[in-house]
Formats: sequence, structure tokens, C-alpha cells
Amino acid sequence: MAENIKDKKTPCHVAIIMDGNGRWAQQRGLERPEGHIAGVEAVRRVLKAAVAEGVKYLTLYTFSTENWGRPKEEVDAIMELFCKSVVAETPELKAQGVRARIMGDRSALSEKVNHYIDRIENETAEGERITLIFAMNYSSRHELTETMKVLAQKVAEGSLRAEEIDAATISANLYSCDYPDPDLIIRTGGEYRLSNFLMWQAAYSELFFTPTLWPDFDHDSLKEALEAYSGRNRRFGLVEAK
Ligand code: FPP
Repeated sequence: MAENIKDKKTPCHVAIIMDGNGRWAQQRGLERPEGHIAGVEAVRRVLKAAVAEGVKYLTLYTFSTENWGRPKEEVDAIMELFCKSVVAETPELKAQGVRARIMGDRSALSEKVNHYIDRIENETAEGERITLIFAMNYSSRHELTETMKVLAQKVAEGSLRAEEIDAATISANLYSCDYPDPDLIIRTGGEYRLSNFLMWQAAYSELFFTPTLWPDFDHDSLKEALEAYSGRNRRFGLVEAK
């Protein structure tokens, strides 16, 4: 691992399904929210690592639309952790040149959470080194459903013709419209699925799965994923150039 990853292909956009917080806690005889607290430490570590490796966009699956079905105490703990982290981390994010953004359906999030979302987005708006995107109350099917409604409305109003709709039109109306598609999607925690995460945007993403639980994921773990990515041959449905 002595080689510098910067000499190789570095993905512009890395997206991570941060799985395994609950198991990490259970293995230690702790309550599940303790795993999420350790998960925030991992977010801090991996953000620094991503900046150091030259990643420009880092998207983190923080809370899915399905996560509302978890016990209320756990949902509340995650939301509270988000709010506290905004307060605690914003100065460091600014110092590191991080622009933080939230992607998802904000309408179901509490007024308090929305307040902290506005706060972190406004306070870090000038960050230019990396864009850190928290997917909150996000899922692909929900995102696509909302996008279809927006497009249907435009067609009904006459501002868009149905035959004009193409992949670019759909991309431009997703929550993720301001960001490039992810080059690399990492899932921690040993499961091999996308779980409703960036399914449209993942059309040509490289996938990397690791058994490492999210609270244990660190700079070396990220390097391992970036190494694997740099060895991949992305053809985007074409044949290899001679
Ligand atoms: C998956 O682990 C993790 C989540 C559903 C939440 C992710 C949240 C964090 C990393 C902490 C909050 C982050 C911020 C920035 C406030 P799991 O609980 O599904 O783990 P398991 O599969 O072992 O049960």
C-alpha cells in the first residue's frame, strides 16, 4: 500500500452505504444508538481521508425513508445525533473546505432537523475542496416517484412535452441534480445490495462491498476501496478504446 493513490484513477464521487452500526454496538454489549455515535466518528475520519485522497463528492446514506420503521428511540437518536453533529462539526468542516448538503425529502423531517440542515448548508456554502452530501429521508423509489410527479405536472401545464423527456431530463429533476453520478459506491457491513440508494445514478457506478462494519471503517479501508476502483475497467456499455 506504499503507492500514492493520487497517481492512479481517483473517483470524483464516492457514495457510501454506512451499514453495521447496530451490529458493532451489539458485539460490544452496547445499545444500538452507541453504534451510531461511533458511526459519526467514522464519518469524521472518512471525510478527512476522502479530502486527502482527492475525492470531490462524498455522499453518505444517513437515513432512508424505510428507517422510520425502526424503534422510535433509535430514530430520535439518529436525528439528535445529526443536530448535535452540525453544531460540533461545522467549524471543522469550514476549516477543511467542506461544502455540506442534504439530499432527500425534507418535508417529513422535523422543524428542528430542518433548522440544522439550513444551518450547516448555509455555513459551509463556500467550501470548495469537497461536497459532503447527507442522504436524509432518502430512497431512490421515493426520489423517482417525486420526480415523475414533477415531470407529469410540467407536461400537464404545457411547459414540457412528453416526447422531450429523456434521461437527462430525469437526472435534472432528481434530488441529486447538482451532483455528478457516483463513480464508486461502497457498502460496509457485509451485505450485497443497494437498498434503494441512488439506483438511477448508479447505472455505471463501480460497486465495492466490504465486511468491515461502518464504525471500523477508516482511511486504510477507503484506500482499499479506491485501489479496487483504480483497477476497474469502466466501459459505460461501449467497447474498450484501442
Ligand atoms: C446503518 O447501520 C446505519 C444507519 C441506518 C444510520 C447511519 C447513521 C450514522 C452513521 C450516524 C449518524 C450520522 C450522522 C452524520 C448524524 P445499521 O443500524 O443498519 O446497522 P446493522 O445492520 O448492524 O443493524
